[in-house]
Amino acid sequence: MKEFLEERNIMPVWQDGCYTIDEYLNRRREIVDLLCFEEYGYLPPKPEQISFSEVSEKELFLGKVILKKIIITTTLNGKPFSFPIYHSMPKTVKKLPFFVMINFRDSVPDVSLPIDEICERGYAVISFCYKDITSDDGDFNDGLAGIIYDGQKRNPHDCGKIAMWAWAASRAMDYALTIPELDSGKATVIGHSRLGKTALLAGATDERFYCAISNNSGCCGAALSRNKVGENLKIICNAFPHWFCENFMKYVDREMDLPFDQHFLIAAMVPRKVYVSSSSEDLWADPVSEYLSCCAADEVYAKIGMEGFTHPNRLPVAGDVFHQGSIGYHLKEGKHSLISEDWHHFIDYLNIH
Ligand code: GCU
Repeated sequence: MKEFLEERNIMPVWQDGCYTIDEYLNRRREIVDLLCFEEYGYLPPKPEQISFSEVSEKELFLGKVILKKIIITTTLNGKPFSFPIYHSMPKTVKKLPFFVMINFRDSVPDVSLPIDEICERGYAVISFCYKDITSDDGDFNDGLAGIIYDGQKRNPHDCGKIAMWAWAASRAMDYALTIPELDSGKATVIGHSRLGKTALLAGATDERFYCAISNNSGCCGAALSRNKVGENLKIICNAFPHWFCENFMKYVDREMDLPFDQHFLIAAMVPRKVYVSSSSEDLWADPVSEYLSCCAADEVYAKIGMEGFTHPNRLPVAGDVFHQGSIGYHLKEGKHSLISEDWHHFIDYLNIH
C-alpha cells in the first residue's frame, strides 16, 4: 500500500517522542484542536444545565421493541435549547450496548434505521434528526445556531453546522448515561454521509464514545482530501460552506497546504475503535480515498502496539469486510446508502471487539 499512500503525500500523525498510549493522548488533543481550529470549528461548550423528560412510550414489533420519545432541554449562554431524541431498545434485563445515531429524519424505524433488526441483535439505539438541532443551510439564526451566535458574526474558528450536530450527539450520550439499561462503556456514534462526517467528529471530541462509525462519509469525512476523486474541497466549500468554520475556506484549491488530512480524524479515535464503510458505486465519496485513510491511520495503532487496520496488500473490492483490527471496514456493492446490510456488518464487528 506504500506506493498508494506516497502518491497522497500522507502526513504522519505521529510525532517523535510518543511511544505510549498516554503520550499519544497528548498528541491526540493537538490533532483534535487542529481539526476544530482549521476545519469544523470548535464545538459549542457543554450546557450549563441539562434535563430529560419522557413525552411518550410505545411498543413496536409485537412488543419486542420499546420506543420512547424524550425531550432534552439544555441551558447554553443562559438560554434554553431543546430537541427530541428517540430511544429504542429491546425488552431485556441485561445491560445493552447502544448506538447514538445522528439521522436525516426523525422517524423510527426508518429506511436507514432498521430498528427491529438492530434490537433483535441486542443493541439499543438513541437517534435524533439533525435538523432538530439546526437547519442544514447558511442560516445561523436557526435552532442551536441562534442560541450560540445570537445574531453576532462567527469568528473564523467558531463552529459550523457539523460541529453543532456533533455537540447534539454528546447530549444524547449525556442522556444515555442516566439510563440503567444502557452499558455506558459500549456506546457507538454513527451517521451516514454528511452525518458520517459528523459521527467522526463526535467520536473525536467525546471520548465517552467507544466507537465511531462513518458510513459513506466521503469528502471531509473519512476520505483523504489530497488527490481525492469525486467531491473536493472547492466543490464542498461552495455548496456547503455552513458545514465548516470560516478558516477552512482558505484551503479551497489548496489541499496540499492543509496541515493535516482526514486520516487525522480517524486517528483521533486511537486507542478506541473506528469503523469506515463505503459503497462501491459511491464515486462522489471516493471509496479508495476512504480506504487509504484507514491505511494511513493504522500507523498510529501500530506505534502503540495495537492492531489497527488489518487488510490485504491491495486496494479494496466490493464485498471486502475487514473486522480484525481496531479499524473496522467494509465495502458493500452498490450505491451511496446506509441499509440493513451495513448495520449487520457493524454489529458483527462490535460483537468481536
Ligand atoms: C452531498 C455532499 C456530500 C455529502 C452528501 C450527503 O452529496 O456533496 O459531501 O456527504 O451530500 O450528506 O448526502
